[in-house]
Formats: sequence, structure tokens, C-alpha cells
Amino acid sequence: MLEVSDLYAGHGRIEILKGLSLKVPAGQIVTLIGANGAGKTTSLMTLSGLVPVRKGRIAFEGRTVEKLAPDERVKLGIVQVPEGRRIFSHLTVQENLDLGAYLRSDSDVGKDRAELLELFPILKDRLQQLAGNMSGGEQQMLAMARALMARPRLLLLDEPSLGLAPKMIDTVFQLIRRINQRGITVLLVEQNAWKALEIASYAYVIETGKIKLEGAGKELLSNPVVKQLYLGE
Ligand SMILES: Nc1ncnc2c1ncn2[C@@H]1O[C@H](COP(=O)(O)OP(=O)(O)O)[C@@H](O)[C@H]1O
Ligand SMILES: [Mg+2]
Repeated sequence: MLEVSDLYAGHGRIEILKGLSLKVPAGQIVTLIGANGAGKTTSLMTLSGLVPVRKGRIAFEGRTVEKLAPDERVKLGIVQVPEGRRIFSHLTVQENLDLGAYLRSDSDVGKDRAELLELFPILKDRLQQLAGNMSGGEQQMLAMARALMARPRLLLLDEPSLGLAPKMIDTVFQLIRRINQRGITVLLVEQNAWKALEIASYAYVIETGKIKLEGAGKELLSNPVVKQLYLGE
């Protein structure tokens, strides 16, 4: 579904991605793990068009997309849930959800919202509440639900478990599984390497803007280098 080849990108004069290559097959959960500052967020932002590509190619379902604007990529089905949630605190939960659908012109938005709320019962009772008054975990769910309102085919998740209590982390990972079971392909960036490798069918380890290691999720869980550097063993 997604094929990234030899990608170079960065911020200002600083090159962050230095030849990144990875693949995400349709229907799967693929994870990108790596230390703080390795380039995970920059990778996702480059995929969604928020950071320009300097060299290399991004192919999505056979189309070259690296020159497309962010909104055009959203329309194709590439939708990102940003690090730190970035919900609109001063808007209600429902307003946040409806903003997720702002590029859609079909008439199923209301129906999709109702359906989505079955997946996120916590949000159902809070539609008229200000989003900023919710807990971190609830805000993460809202950020995910908002992204789903755009009808993604490929969901890019940036550190969805960051800063959450252990119980909420479990809930978020369960939701990722359920979203994937609905046919949405997932590229998951996580510092919680344990959880990410458990859930992912395939995993990439990024180090200073390049893929250092890759393999099946379960395989990397028992890889000695991964264990030492990323699983704290
Ligand atoms: N807007 C920016 N301007 C300049 N440097 C940045 C910017 N955002 C991130 N960086 C730098 O890019 C590198 C990779 O950052 P990032 O992609 O956020 O890593 P990760 O998500 O893996 O922690 C870091 O050295 C970071 O300081
Ligand atoms: Mg990051």
C-alpha cells in the first residue's frame, strides 16, 4: 500500500531523514520504533506532506504522492494522528469530530460519527463537552476518532500511548487493533517498543534518519540488539 524509497527530508538546513526506506502492506499494522530524536515524527510528517521531500519517493497504492499537498493526501486516505494529540481544546468533542471530516463532501458524515462512537463509548457521553477538559487518554481517543472521520485507508499514529496511565495504554492498543480489524492499515510510531512489537506484523527500527533493522514484530522482540537498546533489558 505504501512504499517509501530512499527518502531525504529535514527541517530548515538540517537533514533528518537520510535515505529512509520502508513498506506498509495493505491491511497490516507496521511499526516504526526508535530512540528519541531518531526521526520518527519527521518520517510521519513527511508522509503526510507537512515536511517537504528533498529526494526519494513515496508511493501510495501505486501513485507517486511526494509532491501532493497534505489535504490531497488526506483525500487519498493518508491520515495522521499527530504526536501530542493536537485536539482543539476550546471546541467541543463533536466539533472536533466534525472537523475530521471537513474534506469530505459525501452525506455519510453523521452516520459515520454515530458508528464511530460505538468504538469510542467514552466520547459518546461527552459530545457537548469541551475537548480540553478531558483526560490525556480521552483526548488521545478523540484524536484517533477525529482522524477516522476522514475515512483513512492508511492511519499514521505518532506516539499514541505517550504520557498515558498503564490501563489507558492498554485501551489505546486495543483500539488500534480494532481499527485495523475494520480494514484500516496502520503505521504506528512508538517509544513503547514492547507494546508496538507485540501488535505489529512487521517492524522497522530507525536510527538517525535511516532504517537500521527490520523484521517481523515478534522476531524483533527477541532480537538481542533490540532487547538491549529499545526494550531496556
Ligand atoms: N521543526 C524542527 N526544526 C528543527 N529541528 C527539528 C524540528 N523538529 C524536529 N527536529 C529535530 O529533528 C530530529 C528528529 O526529530 P523527530 O523526528 O521529532 O524525532 P522522534 O520523533 O524520533 O523523537 C531531532 O534532532 C529534532 O531535534
Ligand atoms: Mg516524535
